[in-house]
Amino acid sequence: MNVKRSTPVGEKNIVLIGFMGVGKTTIGKLAAKKLCRDFIDIDQEIEKDFQMSIPEMFNQKGEAFFRKTEKEYIVQMCEHKKSKIVSLGGGSFLQEEIRKKCLEHCFVIFLDLTWENWKQRIDLLLENRPILHNRSIEQVKQLFNERKSIYAFHHLRIETDNLSAEEVADCIADTLKPDSELYQP
Ligand code: S3P
Repeated sequence: MNVKRSTPVGEKNIVLIGFMGVGKTTIGKLAAKKLCRDFIDIDQEIEKDFQMSIPEMFNQKGEAFFRKTEKEYIVQMCEHKKSKIVSLGGGSFLQEEIRKKCLEHCFVIFLDLTWENWKQRIDLLLENRPILHNRSIEQVKQLFNERKSIYAFHHLRIETDNLSAEEVADCIADTLKPDSELYQP
């Protein structure tokens, strides 16, 4: 874990990124409690406002519509919210505008997990992750590796392989609590 130093995190939103199913929502909720911040899950916000699940949105309106919507929600969060913990959908960071806004306005934490551990979760994820549909395990592995280069843009990386969700949340809280000592470039 390397935390770069120069500007305090202060009221910045803390944004969690990483591949689908690494536990961004679970860990985000736990960390939010520990840090006394509100938690926002961008996908859940979209589902609530559009009254449809993400798989339904992919089916009925298409992926392009979902990507446009997630960009609007994330940019809005970056520009108008503060002191939140925010979980992003795993594909959102592929969009340059989202990446730029988050890196500029927020403190971005990459929740990293090795392929070996991730692939053991795949059965739990299949139903609700349209991105996994119609892809072989080899193609999912390729996607996993391609996305790593996008998640390389972050302020803090946490290796989650040997940690429970609670332990990852503790790690976030412990790192960010002594806020006056925490700096980023
Ligand atoms: C996606 C990940 C999902 C959700 C959508 C697309 C992706 O979020 O946004 O199904 O492209 O990786 P999670 O990362 O929370 O699963």
